[in-house]
This record gives sequence, C-alpha cells and structure tokens, in this order.
Amino acid sequence: MRLILLGPPGAGKGTQAQRLVKLYDIPQLSTGDMLRAAVQQGTEVGRRAKAVMDAGELVSDDIVNQIVSDRLDEADCQNGFILDGYPRTLAQADRVDAMLQEKDKPLDAVVELRVEDDALVERVSGRFTCANCGAVYHDTQKQPQTEGVCDACGSTEFKRRADDNAETMRTRLRAYYKETAPLIGYYHAKGMLQPVDGMADIDEVTMAIQSALDGS
Ligand code: AP5
Ligand code: ZN
Repeated sequence: MRLILLGPPGAGKGTQAQRLVKLYDIPQLSTGDMLRAAVQQGTEVGRRAKAVMDAGELVSDDIVNQIVSDRLDEADCQNGFILDGYPRTLAQADRVDAMLQEKDKPLDAVVELRVEDDALVERVSGRFTCANCGAVYHDTQKQPQTEGVCDACGSTEFKRRADDNAETMRTRLRAYYKETAPLIGYYHAKGMLQPVDGMADIDEVTMAIQSALDGS
C-alpha cells in the first residue's frame, strides 16, 4: 500500500499514520518528524529548516524532496509506505509522482482528512508526544491510559512542539490553504482522492480510512 495522508495541521495525520503502520505493516514517512530530527541533530538541513519551521512557514521544496527521495530508497519502503505531511505543494506532488514513476511504484490512494479550523487549533494546543517513541496524545482528547506513562513504550518523558502555539498555528493554516489545499483538486482530478471525516473520534476515523482503502 502506497498512501498519502493529506490534511491541515492538527487534522490527525500522525495519529492515523501510527495506526496504519500497524494495520498494514508499512512505515510512516513524516517529513515533519524527519525535519525535526535534522534540527535536533544539528545537520545542515536542520540548520536551514529550523527558523522556517518555528515560524510556521514551509521548508523549501528542494530540501524536502531530497529527504523523501533518500528515504524512499531504503529497504523498508519497498513494500509500501504512508507519506504523512508530504507532498505539501504542487511542485512536491509533481516531484513525488516522477519519483514513484521512475521506481514503477505508483500511489494507491490519497486520503484527505477533513477537520474544521476551530478544532485544529484546539487539537494542536493540547497536543503532546512521547519523547521516546513519538506516540501522539492530547490533554483532553487522548491521554495515556496510565497518567504520565506512554501506552506504547512505557516512557515517562513527554514533549510539546515549539510550533504548537496559536500564533504560529495561524501561519501554518495560511500556508496550508495557500500551498497545500490545491492538492485536493490535483488528486481528485486523478481519481485518487478519498475524503474522510476527520471530525469523528480517533477510532472512527481509522475505520473510515480502512474502508476507503479497502474500496480503492
Ligand atoms: P508537520 O510535523 O507535518 O506538522 P503539520 O502538518 O502541521 O501536522 P501536525 O503534525 O501538526 O498534525 P497532524 O495532522 O499529524 O495531527 P496529530 O495526529 O498530531 O510539519 C511541521 C513543519 O515542518 C511545517 O510547518 C513545515 O515548516 C515543515 N514541513 C513538514 N513537511 C513539509 C513539507 N512537505 N514541505 C515543506 N515544509 C514541511 O493530531 C493533533 C492532535 O489532535 C493530537 O494531540 C491528537 O491526539 C489529537 N487528535 C488526533 N485525531 C483526533 C480526533 N479524531 N479527535 C480528537 N483529537 C484528535
Ligand atoms: Zn512512547
């Protein structure tokens, strides 16, 4: 299964990708996670990306296309993958089409998570993740079963993202509507778009994605 998860910041792409990894036994390729790892490691890419990400703007297509292209060559991507947060511009969409065509591994589907803006702001404001395994939680919507202990790995360390504040979120949403929302029409025209109601609760969204994929 070769899949794109499309949707605005806070729509639930990461949350659903982590579940689809288990259901379909394919890796999650989150450009946001890859860029944050580069920032943390202090690489050249990380140094160039940090200020842009902190401001809520998009990192340049060249940087992002290169990290995805390198990642797609790795062994665990050969039987499928979930692209989470990529592509995010029409130029990135064209590039990934070309990359996958070269490999003779076309996309199977593009799932678009639809969530209202007010809910998006509420979701990112309450988000925290496990510092060890990256499992995603929320202050009110999804807490660990045992308070302070990650369900997935047992870690007691959690973190919050620097860009999860109301001001940066406004910039991220603007970037989404200007640069990324045009991809909805792009993939619809290719007959690949599977819209899913992302306002439902987390389990229901997973089930809706599964039935969309089983029918695609
Ligand atoms: P990235 O890390 O991709 O962030 P994003 O797209 O803004 O998406 P988020 O991670 O904020 O949200 P999500 O949809 O994964 O939601 P989640 O599942 O966590 O990108 C960060 C930055 O990196 C960008 O701003 C840009 O600078 C750069 N970047 C990355 N990719 C790039 C690219 N391709 N090109 C250029 N620049 C790029 O859920 C959010 C919260 O809601 C959680 O707390 C969760 O528990 C909760 N939640 C989830 N689902 C539900 C539900 N159904 N009901 C209630 N609560 C829910
Ligand atoms: Zn964990």
